[in-house]
Amino acid sequence: MFLKTAAIAALLLPGLIAVASDASQTVFSTPNVDAASTFAPVGTLNVLSESSFTTLAHPEFPQYSVRMKKSNFCDEDVGYVTARFSFSENDSKLETDSAYTGYIDIQARHLFFYFFESRSDPDTDDVIFWTNGGPGCSSGIGLLMELGPCRVVNADNGTVHHAESWNSNANIFFIDQPIGVGFSYADYGEYVSTTEEAAQDIAAFVAIFFAHFSKFQGRGFHMSGESYAGRYLPVFAAAVYDQNPRLIKAGMPPINLTSVMIGNGMTDVPSMYPGWYEMQCSPASLPPVQDINRTCVQMKAALPRCIKWTKESCQDQFDLINCGAAMTFCFESIFSPYIATGLNNYDLSKKCEGENLCYVEIEEIVKYLNKEEVQAVLGVEVSRIQLGATEYVSALLERGVPVLIYVGTYDWVCNWVGNEAWTLALEWSGQAEFASQPLREWTVDGKRAGEDALGEGVHVRHCRWCWPYVAGDGESLDRWAAIVDCVHPSN
Ligand SMILES: *[C@@H]1O[C@H](CO)[C@@H](O)[C@H](O)[C@H]1NC(C)=O
Ligand SMILES: *[C@@H]1O[C@H](CO)[C@@H](O)[C@H](O)[C@H]1NC(C)=O
Ligand SMILES: *[C@@H]1O[C@H](CO)[C@@H](O)[C@H](O)[C@H]1NC(C)=O
Ligand SMILES: *[C@@H]1O[C@H](CO)[C@@H](O)[C@H](O)[C@H]1NC(C)=O
Repeated sequence: MFLKTAAIAALLLPGLIAVASDASQTVFSTPNVDAASTFAPVGTLNVLSESSFTTLAHPEFPQYSVRMKKSNFCDEDVGYVTARFSFSENDSKLETDSAYTGYIDIQARHLFFYFFESRSDPDTDDVIFWTNGGPGCSSGIGLLMELGPCRVVNADNGTVHHAESWNSNANIFFIDQPIGVGFSYADYGEYVSTTEEAAQDIAAFVAIFFAHFSKFQGRGFHMSGESYAGRYLPVFAAAVYDQNPRLIKAGMPPINLTSVMIGNGMTDVPSMYPGWYEMQCSPASLPPVQDINRTCVQMKAALPRCIKWTKESCQDQFDLINCGAAMTFCFESIFSPYIATGLNNYDLSKKCEGENLCYVEIEEIVKYLNKEEVQAVLGVEVSRIQLGATEYVSALLERGVPVLIYVGTYDWVCNWVGNEAWTLALEWSGQAEFASQPLREWTVDGKRAGEDALGEGVHVRHCRWCWPYVAGDGESLDRWAAIVDCVHPSN
C-alpha cells in the first residue's frame, strides 16, 4: 500500500514511458542432463560465513549464481546497524533470527536480497518471497516499515524489533528488484527490459536456492508483495510454476508454489480509474473528500472517456503516443484532484506528510539505507508500462495455485474498489462460484479485522477479501498481525 507514487507517476506520465535501453538478454542454457551428477550443494545455511560470501551455483543455470552470507542485520549491533533502541529489561530475551543477505548474479546484473529464517520453526515453516512495488521501490521499505523482523524509526538509532514480523512463522526473502532498485545494480548499466525477463531471473534464483538447501525442499513457497508487485507477482509465479518440469528433468527439486499474495495491488490499472473516482466521491472508504460541482461531476463525466481511451490505446493495441495521451488525460481528470487535496495517497484518512511518498517513516528509512555503511543507491527502472497481469492470475488459478488479494480500505491509489472489480470480473473456471460468495466477517484473536469471502468448494482456498480496516502505517501492528493470520489461517 505504500510506494505507489513512483508507479503512478510512471503509469500516468507519458514522459516516463520509455523502453528500457540496452536490455541484456539472458540466454537460457539448454537442459543439462548431467547437472545432477556434477552438482555439489552447499547443504545447510550453517556453513555460510559472516565475513565473506559463499557462491551457490548450479550447472543447469550456468548464467546464474547466488552469493550469500550470514548477517546480523536486523538483529544485533553489528553489520549495518549503527545503534539500537533500548529494549529495557527484555533486551536479552530477543530472539535472534538467523539473517542472511546476498546477491543473485546474472552475469553483470546483481539483485540484492535479504533472507530471514522463521522465529518459530525454520525447519518446517513455509518459505515466503516478498517484493515491493514501484516500479523502483526497494523491498527494504517492506522489510523496515511493514513486515520485516525489525523497523527503522529514526535513522540514527538503528533498528527496533518488530514482533508482528511475517517471519514469526515463515522463512522469508525480501528482494530488491528489478535491477536499479535498492542495492541491486548492474556492472555496465544493463537492465532487464520486461517483467517477463525479470521473472526468469527470479525463477532461476529460487531453483538454485532450493537445490542448495535441502531442508527447504518441498516446503510451501508463497510469492507475495504489494502495490505494483500486483503486476510482477503473477508473472513471477507463472515462471516459477512453468519451470518445474525443467527442474525435474535436470534432477533438481521442483518448487512447491503454494500461493500468491498481493496486498493493495496494482494488478489491473484500468479497474483503478473507477476506484479512484469512488474513493474520492462516494463513501466507498471514508465520506467523500471532493466537492460535488467542481470536481465529482466533472470527474464522473471524464471517466468513460478515460477508460475507453486507455483500453483502446494501451491495452487492445499498445500505441506509445496515444497511450501516453490517454494516461495524461486520466491523470489530469481523476488523479490530480486527489493530489490537490493534500491527502495521503496510501491512506485517505491522513494528510500527506514528508517529502517521501507522504510518509515521514520512509524518509527515515531512506536516510538509514543511504548511510555510508550500506552505500545505497536508490534508482528507478521504468520499462514499458504494463497495464496488468490478470491473465497470469487466471492461469495460476486454473492450475490450482491459490491467490490472495488483500487491500486496506483506506488506500486510495491501490484501492479496494478497483481490486474488487477486477477479481470479480476475472475470467476463470471458478468465477461464478467465487463471485457468489458473500462477504463474511473476519476476526483475528476475537477482533474484527476485516471481511473476507472464502471460495470454499472451489478447488482452491481463495480468500477473496482479507480486508484489514486499518490501512497501514508503521504503527498499525494489528494489521500485520491480521495478515499473518491470513497467510497462516490455521494459526
Ligand atoms: C518484558 O517481558 C514480559 C514477559 O514477556 C512482559 O510482561 C513485559 O511487558 C515486557 N517488558 C517490556 C518493557 O517490554
Ligand atoms: C535516538 O537515540 C538517542 C540516544 O540514545 C536519543 O537521545 C534519541 O531520543 C533517540 N531518538 C529517537 C527518535 O528516539
Ligand atoms: C507443499 O506445501 C504445502 C504447504 O506447506 C504442504 O501442505 C504440501 O504438503 C507441500 N507439498 C509437497 C508435495 O511437498
Ligand atoms: C458549477 O461549476 C460551474 C463551473 O465550475 C459553474 O459555472 C456553475 O455555476 C456551478 N454550479 C453550481 C450549481 O454551483
